[in-house]
Formats: sequence, structure tokens, C-alpha cells
Amino acid sequence: MATSFSYSGFSSAAIHAGRRPDPSYAHITPIYANSTYVFDTAEQGMRRFSGEEKGYIYGRWGNPTITEAEERIAALEGFGLVDETGAPLQLKAILHASGMAAISTLFIGNLKAGDKVLTHYSLYGGTHELLESILPGLGVEVVIADLRDIATAQQAIEADSHIKMLYLETPANPTIQCVDIEALTDLAQTYQRIVAVDNTFATPYLQQPFMYGVDYVVHSTTKFLNGHGTAIGGILIGRNVEHMSNRLTKVHRLLGGNSNAFDAYLLNLGLNTLEVRMQRHCHNAMEVAAFLENHPAIGKVNYLGLFSHPDHELAARQMRHPGAMLSFEMKDGLEAGKRFINRLQMCVRAVSLGTCDTLLCHPASMTHAGVPKEKREAYGITDGLIRMSVGIENIQDILRDLDQALGN
Ligand SMILES: Cc1ncc(COP(=O)(O)O)c(C=O)c1O
Repeated sequence: MATSFSYSGFSSAAIHAGRRPDPSYAHITPIYANSTYVFDTAEQGMRRFSGEEKGYIYGRWGNPTITEAEERIAALEGFGLVDETGAPLQLKAILHASGMAAISTLFIGNLKAGDKVLTHYSLYGGTHELLESILPGLGVEVVIADLRDIATAQQAIEADSHIKMLYLETPANPTIQCVDIEALTDLAQTYQRIVAVDNTFATPYLQQPFMYGVDYVVHSTTKFLNGHGTAIGGILIGRNVEHMSNRLTKVHRLLGGNSNAFDAYLLNLGLNTLEVRMQRHCHNAMEVAAFLENHPAIGKVNYLGLFSHPDHELAARQMRHPGAMLSFEMKDGLEAGKRFINRLQMCVRAVSLGTCDTLLCHPASMTHAGVPKEKREAYGITDGLIRMSVGIENIQDILRDLDQALGN
């Protein structure tokens, strides 16, 4: 139950933060499946609308199941962090219908025609398309630069006073590249620019961007936070609680990308086990990476825990563990990639990530089949590249399945 108890462990916060006594004494916060809320009197309705009295009004604006998910995730992103005065860092989160809805609120709520977003290569495809083909219609442009190089980032900011936001995704798809959150946030603060980080691949268990002073974190909660592949969802978390409570809450409500009680309930269940799941995901991923690195059919393995990954040291600095996502190249290209994927018996052929089961996809024949080969290769998506979200099955079965699928 929500108390003033300060949790010293991540799992304790993941399980208890945001929970409130239920009027019916239900142990687990129920699914509030109703669209509207009752006022005792007209005066009470007026007080709720004016904000003088706290209370739920209408389902698109929130409900208790959603509030619990928001408060728990805010507690995890701020876990153990303090503000400028040394007090525990207060963050505000807004749950959305999807990661894309949360990212849309972030952009539309903070940018206006004439503004630009500075970002890097290798973002999630949907975010890239939103920036490249939807926002320009609203007068917001994107500048893409290699933000792994801080001097390049600085030149880009100095060259264009319209850049208002730095948008980072780290680690990113599908080569698991990282950017330096601390260095880029220091730079953005020098030039008074906003910084937002997509923390989906890492989760707050592995990486806490607010530690470096970023303004926003977004997640596709569809992935590790839910953890079971049972609901699409997204969350936007902000450091400026007043701005989140006013402007961004209004934008979220009016764009209509609200979540719902059932999906929030599933997310709350998933959050209970985030730490233990992540520990097992990460342990398994390390073993899988070591296995693949020594396999004769495999060329390059992109895993942050391997010394061969160019961002190995950066990840060791800004992440608690290199994580559970990796990608690797089949030496024999497209046909070998398809054959391998088709032979899997336990691991699952699917896009998405962060579920209990191991998921593999072949970007060149699936998610990126529509992208011309030259462009794919420029982004590091070679024909033989396979992306893998390592699950929490028993490691010997994951390795046995990979081994038999790789065999001749
Ligand atoms: C890193 C990342 N961010 C955002 C999204 C979008 O999330 P959703 O599919 O929940 O809208 C995805 C989806 O795969 C993702 O991988």
C-alpha cells in the first residue's frame, strides 16, 4: 500500500510503489472498466473540474488502475535519485495506448512549427517515420547526425538555432548501438535544449537517464515492462512535474492516445517481476552471445557485453548490465538467415521484444524488407542480420535450439 516507506530495493519499489488502499479491500488493484465517474453533487463536479478537489472524472483522463502503473514506473525511473536539494527525485508519468502514442505526446506537446529535433541513425522504425514523414507536415523537421560523436552533436546544435530537442534511443535497433546520455545531456543543457530518451531496450532496472538530468524518458511498455507480450502500451515520464501535469496532460487527453484499465492491470502484474525477469534475461543473453561468437556459421555478434562491440565501455558506464538484446550476422547471408529462422523449434519467430520467450526476427526479410538494400546496409541491417530478444527459458534449451537451427 502507498506509504511513506522508502524502498531500498528495486523490486520492493516495482511491487509496492503506487499501490493505494482499495475501498473494497481488494489485494490487487482491480480493473476499473468504466468510462465515467459519479459526482455526489453538482458542486463536487465543479470542484473536480476546477482541480480544487482531486478525483476521477472521465476514463480518457485516467483511472485508478492506470494511476498505479504511472506511479510505479515513475518510482522506478527515479529509483534512488535525488533532486538539486537532495530530496528524492519526483517524476510524473502518463500512460498511453502505445509507445508511439507516448512519443507523439512528447513531440506535439513540446514542439511547434519551425522547431527541429536532433536525433541519430538507427532509431525504432516507427519513431523514424513519425519524424521523417508526419512531423514535417506540422512544420517540425528532423536533423539526423552521428550523435556517438559529441563534437558532431555540438556542431549540429551550433549550426541550427531551431533545434529544440535531442531525441536519443539507447541502446538502439538493430545493431544495439549506444549514445552517451551524460555527455549529450551536458551539451544540451549548455545550449538549453530539451533531452528525451527512449529507454525501452534497457528498462529502468538497467539504465536511469534521469540520473544525468534528462527532461523526459519514454518507453514502449509493450516490451520488458509488461514482459509477457499481453498488451500494447507506452509511457512518457517527465522531470518537470508542473509541465507534465498541465501542458502534456492536456495534449495527452486531447490527442486521445489514452491507455485502458485492462492493459494497465496487465502492466502492473508484469512490473512485479521486472527485476527478477531482467536478471534472468541478462544472464541468458550473455551466454547466448558467448555461444554465437564461437559458432562457425556466425560472423559478427552485436552484444554490448562483448569486448568487440564498439559501445562496450560506454554501456558498462551507463548501464547496470549489457541487457538482453543482441543481433548477429549469418556468414551466408539472406538464405542462411531464412533457413535458420525456419528451423527454430522452441524460440519464436516474431518481431517485438522483452517477452518471457525468446523472440527472433530477420529484419531484411521482415521489418525492413521494404527498405532498399543500400539503405539497409548503410544502417547496419545486412541481409544476414538476425535480431534476438533473449527470453527467460532455461539457457540449455535456448542454446540447444539455436545450435540445431544453425546446423547444416
Ligand atoms: C525502442 C522502441 N521504441 C518505441 C516503440 C514503439 O512502441 P509501440 O509498438 O508500443 O507503439 C518500439 C516498438 O517496437 C520500440 O522498439
